[in-house]
Amino acid sequence: MTTAPTIPASVAVDGRSNLRAAPMIAVRGLKKRIGPQDILRGVDLSVAAGETLVIIGRSGGGKTVLLKNLIGLMQPNEGEIWIDGQSIIGLGERQLEAIRRKVGILFQGGALFDSMTVEENIAFPLREAGERDGRVIERKIAEMLEVIELEGQQKKMPVNLSGGMKKRVGLARAIINQPSCILYDEPTAGLDPVVSDSINRLIRRLQERYHVTSVVVTHDMKNAFHVGDRIAYLHEGRIYFHGTPAEIQASPDPLIQDFLIGRAALAD
Ligand SMILES: Nc1ncnc2c1ncn2[C@@H]1O[C@H](COP(=O)(O)OP(=O)(O)OP(=O)(O)O)[C@@H](O)[C@H]1O
Ligand SMILES: [Mg+2]
Repeated sequence: MTTAPTIPASVAVDGRSNLRAAPMIAVRGLKKRIGPQDILRGVDLSVAAGETLVIIGRSGGGKTVLLKNLIGLMQPNEGEIWIDGQSIIGLGERQLEAIRRKVGILFQGGALFDSMTVEENIAFPLREAGERDGRVIERKIAEMLEVIELEGQQKKMPVNLSGGMKKRVGLARAIINQPSCILYDEPTAGLDPVVSDSINRLIRRLQERYHVTSVVVTHDMKNAFHVGDRIAYLHEGRIYFHGTPAEIQASPDPLIQDFLIGRAALAD
């Protein structure tokens, strides 16, 4: 069996070289073609345990596709993906389920089950993982409702929730199995500034409370600077730039600056 690659010096976390040995997520030369489109053209990424990496990039650039590859919902055409030291390429559905217990994902649209109540949605991964003890399930649901600040809303159906509430329920579902890693796909998109701030605070609280490794895909630069230890810019299928929030802000590269101030978005 081969071992997980160590983080190359070029992507090691600044001043935290002790994190180099054990990336929670390592991606090498990842390529993904869908139909005639080369979506990912050789993505290299490392995320150290406990670190938060923010991925930014233009709409349609392949951010969601990248996250789906990380948990085996899509298979790459080429490249390597290592999660917590284990290669996930070619794993069967059962082994991928074990990976997905380690890596929770908040899908871009929340992706709640419409026919289930809030508490049934939140408890779904617990039941999938084989938990049958009603008291344990009840206690964990209550804990999650407290974390997402939706106490008293557990009997509601998704159709009766606001966009921000749905996102928070999706988040509770992503974290109830206490994954060591959470992938967030646009956690604040379409939400008003107050709700966005509460989601950002929630992401921070999860980092602090559960010490999770996080990958946050966002268009929202305020969000990116608020939660990210490092920021990676996905451009034309590759990581075009990565660095700390301060480094990306200081970058003289016009492509980066255009993205940061939103000109690229206007050109879409
Ligand atoms: N299941 C699929 N079938 C066909 N094409 C797909 C599929 N999933 C994604 N794509 C295509 O891959 C490209 C990248 O899509 P993706 O959803 O990853 O973009 P994104 O960077 O997440 O964009 P956004 O910021 O708008 O969410 C798009 O051209 C999209 O149409
Ligand atoms: Mg997307």
